[in-house]
Amino acid sequence: MKINGKKYHSVWKLDDDSDTVVIIDQRFLPHQLIFEELDSSEKVAVAIEEMHLRGAPLIGIVAAFGVYYAFKEASSKEEFASKIERLKNTRPTAINLEWAIQQQIKLSEELSDQDKAAIQSALFENGFKILHEDIELCRKIGENGLSIIEEIAAKKPGETINILTHCNAGWLATGDYGTATSPIYHAHDKGIKVHVYVDETRPRNQGARLTAWELSQHGVPHTVIADNTGGHLMQHGLVDVCFVGADRVTRTGDAANKIGTYLKALAANDNDVPFYVCLPYTTFDFSIRDGVKEIPIEERGSEEVKLIQGKHNGEVKKVLLTPEDSPAVNYGFDVTPARLVTELVTERGRCQANEESIMKLYTDHA
Ligand code: MRU
Repeated sequence: MKINGKKYHSVWKLDDDSDTVVIIDQRFLPHQLIFEELDSSEKVAVAIEEMHLRGAPLIGIVAAFGVYYAFKEASSKEEFASKIERLKNTRPTAINLEWAIQQQIKLSEELSDQDKAAIQSALFENGFKILHEDIELCRKIGENGLSIIEEIAAKKPGETINILTHCNAGWLATGDYGTATSPIYHAHDKGIKVHVYVDETRPRNQGARLTAWELSQHGVPHTVIADNTGGHLMQHGLVDVCFVGADRVTRTGDAANKIGTYLKALAANDNDVPFYVCLPYTTFDFSIRDGVKEIPIEERGSEEVKLIQGKHNGEVKKVLLTPEDSPAVNYGFDVTPARLVTELVTERGRCQANEESIMKLYTDHA
């Protein structure tokens, strides 16, 4: 990914001799590009919990470094376990968090006969391994999703392909490329004419603030829409395809993603618009079948609904949107049932959103 023409990943090392990692503090985008240095497990926990960084794969990557800091800081097994609990409880829906923490714990157990310094250094290196693996997974999702855009392009040669996306499942939410945006970047770079309708994605507006910004940085034509606009566009034939990301997908293909995704899937289904969920294997929860009943849905503070952030007279500010005393509720995610998903797009290829197809692709996770 490029910011003002300069190449970045979503996480990097402060410098060669340091074990501090740097992230982009996404709370200030698109108006301010601010980097944050993370050098303790508590800083990682706060950054994940308060959404300085977000997006399922990136949460997992940064949590892996959190485990490294937890191991380095802890002077007993109990202290390590309590720091791990703190990290695990930061965001309950995205399964990548648990996946990455487990990878690190497994590694520390495998190396338990080595001294602390050796384990520490292996955990730090493994954080970067997880980052680079995620980048490769997202690149492959892009290649596999590109075939969908090419199929649509073949049916309307020379015309623009209109794509709708929700939230930010872009490079900011992963190591690079994104999940839902990766096919879009691949198509754009190949010279296929694409245009993206970007759902603003209330309450935190990840679409309006983040997806719009990264598409701008990459020169991809796009239009930000209010969340309620998608159904109207689909009824009028203005959307060819929807691509969304996911925070946790069951072995049967039910997909939890940012709140509002389900409504878009319903509108897409009613208007015969294909609806694709893009994800790496790290976002599958192969242990569950019923997404609505079994995926924990994060509930966040009501202030995210009641206040809205923007730039006014050069200053980034939050303002009150609702009556001061009106209560508000803030569910972070919803579950799109598999029956509304046209296909899943993974690093291993495309598959139907059902247990048979998913497990055929992931026999090693059966
Ligand atoms: O609450 P967020 O911003 O972490 O939610 C993110 C999403 O819902 C993304 O669409 C999802 O994590 C996929 S990211 C590649």
